[in-house]
Parts: sequence; structure tokens; C-alpha cells
Amino acid sequence: MSSVETTESPAVPGLCVLISGRGSNFLALSDAILDGRLRARIACVVSNREDAQGLIHARERGIATAVVPHKGLTRSEHALRLLDVITPHAPALVCLAGYMRLLAPEFIRAFPNRILNIHPSLLPAFTGLDAQKQALEYGVRVTGCTVHLVDEELDHGPVVAQAAVTVQDADDEASLAARILAQEHKLYAEAVEKLLHHPWEIRGRRVIFSNPSH
Ligand code: GAR
Repeated sequence: MSSVETTESPAVPGLCVLISGRGSNFLALSDAILDGRLRARIACVVSNREDAQGLIHARERGIATAVVPHKGLTRSEHALRLLDVITPHAPALVCLAGYMRLLAPEFIRAFPNRILNIHPSLLPAFTGLDAQKQALEYGVRVTGCTVHLVDEELDHGPVVAQAAVTVQDADDEASLAARILAQEHKLYAEAVEKLLHHPWEIRGRRVIFSNPSH
């Protein structure tokens, strides 16, 4: 889809999307907004890498972008710079979409239970890098993807949504990653729509939606 996003009303909840690379999950969120599956607007796309491919797509869609390099900064210093860029947008949610840096507690505490991440495994299995490779090496028959709230530990916060993907005997890392990615693109938009527009609370580690039919 190449049209420019037009949902600019301040009544529509804003998302800030953090990326480090390709940005296909950001594009999937943007596509879902454009075709009405996700009632939100993308206020800005922020990357820690200026060469992130996703920034090009964001600019093509007329979405504000910013680069906040992490090099040479402590995690806290970087978090403060990110906050300077993101806070003025007053996002309803901050969506990590292939953002490959651990965020400092200062950043996480600024948006309590309002930062989401998508990870290519059924958490708590296979945290960290190369989750699809880890799944193949372990030999699981089912893996998938997880949307979760971000807390101060890596790939750890309460689970919002998961989708399962069956591992096939012929799979290599690329084929498995591609089938998981297709599920990620669907799951992330659905999870964001649900969190923005349906009442929910956290009980223990569980994200409970008050109206389970939605
Ligand atoms: C996605 O598979 C995402 O789940 C993963 O990086 C990829 C980014 O792709 N994220 C993580 O592994 C985070 N721990 P994208 O840039 O095309 O959205």
C-alpha cells in the first residue's frame, strides 16, 4: 500500500513505533490503519539506526521520523534522548517493532504498561536474538510469535497475544522466520486495536480483557 496515512485527528490514539531495521511490522501496523482494521495513527517512527530501511517507508507514507543513535551513550543517556523525542507526541502506546536495543528503566517507567513488543517465539521460550534459529535448534514442533507489554527484563512482560506456527521438517531459519513474520503482521495490529479500544487490566502476569468476546 503506498497511499499516505490521513487519520490525523487528535481523538485517534497515537502510536510511536520504534524500529532498528527493515520495519515490516511497522508497515503492517500502518497498513492496518489504512484499511481500517486498526483505529490509531502513527505519530512518529523512531530508530536508533539512521540506515533503518523502515525509516524510508515511513517517510514515503508521510509519517514523522526521528533517529536517536545509541552509539557512545549509556542506556540511560539514550533513554533520555528518546524521551525528548517521544514524550511530546503523548503516545497512547509505544510499539517496539524490531527494535533491537534493551530500553533503560527510565524509559520504561515513563510509559507504564504502555510499551509493547513483538517477539518471534512463543514466550517464555527463546528470548533474545535469533529466536527462530533457537526454535529450530531446540527441535520444537510448534513455535510462533508473542505480543507482550514491556517491563524491565528482556522479552519478559505480561503476554497480550500469541499465535502458533507449526515447524515443518523441511524448514530452515529463513522459511520458518517468514511464516512467523506473516503471523506477526496480523497479530500486532489485532493486539494494538484490542488494547486501545477494549477495557483491560493486569492480574498477576495476566492481561485480562473485560469483554472476552472481543
Ligand atoms: C521481527 O521478526 C520481530 O519479531 C523481531 O525482529 C524482526 C523485525 O522485523 N524482534 C525481535 O526479535 C525482538 N526481540 P521487522 O523490522 O521487519 O519488523
